Amino acid sequence: MRTVSSPAPLKNHIRLEMAAVPDNVALARVTVAAFASQLDFTLDEIEDIRVAVSEAVTNAVVHAYSDRAPGGPSGTVTLEAAHDREALTIAVADQGRGIVDVALARQPAYTTDPERMGLGFAIMESFCDELDVVSEVGRGTTVKMVKRPRAAKAPRAEGAAGDDRPV
Ligand SMILES: Nc1ncnc2c1ncn2[C@@H]1O[C@H](COP(=O)(O)OP(=O)(O)OP(=O)(O)O)[C@@H](O)[C@H]1O
Ligand SMILES: [Mg+2]
Repeated sequence: MRTVSSPAPLKNHIRLEMAAVPDNVALARVTVAAFASQLDFTLDEIEDIRVAVSEAVTNAVVHAYSDRAPGGPSGTVTLEAAHDREALTIAVADQGRGIVDVALARQPAYTTDPERMGLGFAIMESFCDELDVVSEVGRGTTVKMVKRPRAAKAPRAEGAAGDDRPV
């Protein structure tokens, strides 16, 4: 019989495949927050991650399959996340219509829907350390985000001046 005595793994990953429907935005947000809590993030950083993932999944729900006939089968959005304790990597992918001009779509206030603000990508960019958007028209879009715990990004000597982390 094998005994399980190995230390906690340094790496972890998850994959959540969902229908691209509004109810699943909250599911993705909760899931990624629980996963992110395995790293040394502050509550503010976890909130940043929740918001960024909400924006990415909302885009898949709202835009990716907007060319499909209403009432038909919904498309799929996949949330993948991985970490090595030092960085959290998140990928939100759909197989929808794709984005014609990614650089234009990433501009703040650019939207193809006059009801919207066009701020989703700008929010993802400012709330994460890295944002990469890969899209192919007719094939889909993948948004990759990387977030590192601030404590891991800028280690400081104990008691160093300017350390404004909560005590
Ligand atoms: N997954 C996607 N599939 C297809 N098009 C997308 C996708 N994500 C974004 N887009 C396109 O990029 C544009 C910009 O996206 P962004 O999230 O910045 O703004 P928005 O969704 O229009 O507005 P907001 O996010 O403020 O509600 C969208 O209007 C849409 O045309
Ligand atoms: Mg958006």
